[in-house]
Formats: sequence, C-alpha cells, structure tokens
Amino acid sequence: MKPLLIIANWKSNKTAMEAEEWIREVKNYKQEVENIENKEVIICPPFTLLPILKTLFLQNNLKFKLGAQDMSPFDKGAYTGEINARQIKEFAEYVIIGHSERRQNFNENDKILGQKVEMAANHNVSTIYCVQNILTSVPKEVKVIAYEPIFAIGSGKPDTPQSAKEVSIAFKEKSSNIEKVIYGGSVTSENVNSFTKEDGIDGVLIGGASLNPQEFIKIIKNA
Ligand code: PGA
Repeated sequence: MKPLLIIANWKSNKTAMEAEEWIREVKNYKQEVENIENKEVIICPPFTLLPILKTLFLQNNLKFKLGAQDMSPFDKGAYTGEINARQIKEFAEYVIIGHSERRQNFNENDKILGQKVEMAANHNVSTIYCVQNILTSVPKEVKVIAYEPIFAIGSGKPDTPQSAKEVSIAFKEKSSNIEKVIYGGSVTSENVNSFTKEDGIDGVLIGGASLNPQEFIKIIKNA
C-alpha cells in the first residue's frame, strides 16, 4: 500500500515553548505515534522552530519528518531576510511552495515559484507544490502537489472528496511527473478518512487542526 502523506502546516503559529508543549502532549499517545508504518507524518513549523523540533523528534524517538513552509528563490548570498534551500536541508526534507497565502499576501507568481522549485530540486529538498484549482500551472520538476481550493482554507467548509479526486486525476493525466496529489482545506479528524480513502488522494495537508496535538493524533489515526 502507498504511504499516505500527513502534513501539518503550522503557518505563523507557535513559539518554542508552545512547540515543546505540543511534543509533550503528542508523546502521551505512544501507540498512535509509533504505529505509523503506512503514513509519512511531516511537520512544517515556522523556520525558527525547525532546529528545535529536529532535536525534540530525536530525543523523543518520534518518527515524524520536517518540512519548511517556504524557501528563498535564490541560493546563498546577499538576500537579506531569506532562508535558502541549503539551510533548510540541514533540518528538513520537504518544503511547501506556492501556498495561496504566499501568492495572495506576498505576490508570489509562477516565475518566482518556479525558481523556488528549482532551488529545492538542486538541494534535494522535496517540494510539496500547492495548487488552487485545475488551472494552476505546475513546474515540471514537481512530483507532489497539494490541492487546496481557496474557499476551503480555514473556512470549515472543505471541498468534497469526489471533487478532490477529480482534480487529482486531472493533474496526474496532465503530467506523468506528478506522483502524488494530496488534499488540503479544513481537514479534521472527522472528515480526513473521507479524503484518504479515495484512490486518487495520497494524503492531506492540515492547517488549523494540526495545531492541537490531540486533534492531530486523531487525524493520523483516522487517515
Ligand atoms: P486549514 O489550512 O486546514 O486550516 O484549512 C490548510 C492550509 O492552508 O494548508
């Protein structure tokens, strides 16, 4: 069976102390966190928490992986404020690129996003590329996409599994490079299985519901 991707996007949330508290809570569910053979659990915290979480995962024997939520379109050098792929690679295996919140609030366009994807590929960081609908263009290097319709993000109104499945099939038909399509937008422990049980859906990207450790554990369990 293909492993499901269960990806937590913490967005701009949590301090170091709050992240430690989250880990303490998660550790209470020993059976659930150890029993993730067919699930790849990836936590995408803010940059500041990547080193802390890496240490905490090791110390607590958690099989979770790490991802960044964004990345510089440039290599190392004179780019004030940017964090590049080489730096991310020290801590994380994955990076989310093209989230609609970055497109909307930071005017990220296809050109910049293409550069980011290229940088990630050059440094062996796996991209999770967000698409908002079937018309979103996807750089050719991308293997994993997250379908996240804007209306469903943070609204409590997810898209239907049927519609997510159709989008997944359409993207896979368009490009043979796309290996996995995951769904994101108001995923909870209640609805996660309705998505992950669909053939074409290879996992979920979870925002709000991943901040709460109990709820996140339930999502892992129910997926
Ligand atoms: P949500 O966010 O789960 O809070 O809807 C998902 C996302 O934006 O990745």
